[in-house]
Amino acid sequence: MKRYVLCGLSNRGLASFVLPLLENGDTVAGVVDPDRARVEAFNDSVLPEGHERLPWYAPPDFDRMVDELAPDTVIVASPDHTHAGYIVAALARDLDVISEKPMVTTAADAARVLRAQRDSKGSVLVTHNMRYIPRHRQIKELIQDGRLGRITHVALDYHVDLRHGGSYFQRWNRVRALSGGLSVHKGCHHLDLVSWWIDSAPEQVFAYGALNYYGPGSPHRPRDASGEPYTGAELYERDPYYRAQAGSGAFPEPGDARTGLYGLAYRHQYPTDTYLYDDEIDIEDTYSALVRYRNGASLAYSLDFSSPWEGYRVMISGTHGQIESRHGRTPDGTPLPGSDTFTFSPLFGTPETIEVIVREGGHEGADPLLRSDLFGEPAAESLRLGLPADARQGALAVATGEAIWRSAVESRPIDIAELLDRS
Ligand SMILES: NC(=O)c1ccc[n+]([C@@H]2O[C@H](COP(=O)([O-])OP(=O)(O)OC[C@H]3O[C@@H](n4cnc5c(N)ncnc54)[C@H](O)[C@@H]3O)[C@@H](O)[C@H]2O)c1
Repeated sequence: MKRYVLCGLSNRGLASFVLPLLENGDTVAGVVDPDRARVEAFNDSVLPEGHERLPWYAPPDFDRMVDELAPDTVIVASPDHTHAGYIVAALARDLDVISEKPMVTTAADAARVLRAQRDSKGSVLVTHNMRYIPRHRQIKELIQDGRLGRITHVALDYHVDLRHGGSYFQRWNRVRALSGGLSVHKGCHHLDLVSWWIDSAPEQVFAYGALNYYGPGSPHRPRDASGEPYTGAELYERDPYYRAQAGSGAFPEPGDARTGLYGLAYRHQYPTDTYLYDDEIDIEDTYSALVRYRNGASLAYSLDFSSPWEGYRVMISGTHGQIESRHGRTPDGTPLPGSDTFTFSPLFGTPETIEVIVREGGHEGADPLLRSDLFGEPAAESLRLGLPADARQGALAVATGEAIWRSAVESRPIDIAELLDRS
């Protein structure tokens, strides 16, 4: 049995790693988190019976934790900007790492991780769980079996609904230094998915991006007759995002304690008095990008964070056929019509409607197989489809996300090699 330690007792760290590992009889030997009270509250009220309390370590004590607990694998599930430090420190101790996505927040840190891995006996796996969603595996199989021929083009429009999108603008994600911006934090999922589907690596990016919905200049920010923004209770009364989601918990009011899963409070989390129109927001909420891949394929990608629905439309075109899929739901969870099928159209044949496979488990049925690949030996299906994501693939997803915002800011095409290989 392997011994794990966790960096960051986050929602994700708890629900996807610590509790399933403990249920499975694995050892979670300790946790690093600046929030000691959160770790103790977990031990007091969430830890299943029969398990030893998780020892707490402060972030600077990572090496002492490794000395004392002798783990085999370090799980990194802390805020994105802290991943690089833990990954590099773990690799320096020849430990294996399982890192939440995005692997890191900048291409420079991605290059640092790749260098550290070259000098280590340990290696890094990244939790790119979108690959594992059953319908995405179905699409991969069709492509891998050659049914589309050589892939020429992908068009992917991804929408994040106003509840989910708005939540990013009230947390640490809204600061580029902490999240890499949403083209990295969220876009890395989609960019990795496309690279994996078409089995190629991104080479060059050109993009536009803007802050259209949130931030101080938002068209939805309530203002009085003289144009002055409302504040306090008046702001809440008039705010369309808040009114649309009041009572959902997605929009905490100033002073509300921030709590996560299992009612565990965050004490070292972001300040509680944040709102959608704050000056510190320094990222974009809308992107349109073109990506060229090594195999000659291209991607037209858009991503926005204030949509009436959540999900995507994707069209994958190859020399011999095409896949088209629209998958999503409204903010109340109602699936959009057509989400239970996708279409495969051979170039010279009759289109086929394919039922999507649905599986139980977190992240639309992705998490159970992801976990069993990460914590055991990868399944035969996983190896055949190339499901586990390694550090290079994690790095490419981050670098492409960075290339998107850099291209938007600098108004020029960005080569991935410029960011990654020369960092
Ligand atoms: N794969 C997915 O689909 C998916 C989904 C959600 C989140 N995530 C990723 O999981 C990670 C955690 O996100 P979350 O929203 O669950 O987090 P969270 O906000 O629930 O918790 C963050 C935790 O990290 C702790 N922390 C803060 N600074 C730290 C540091 N320097 N060292 C160690 N711990 C620190 C906080 O005290 C808190 O306990 C992020 O990297 C996020 O991108 C991935």
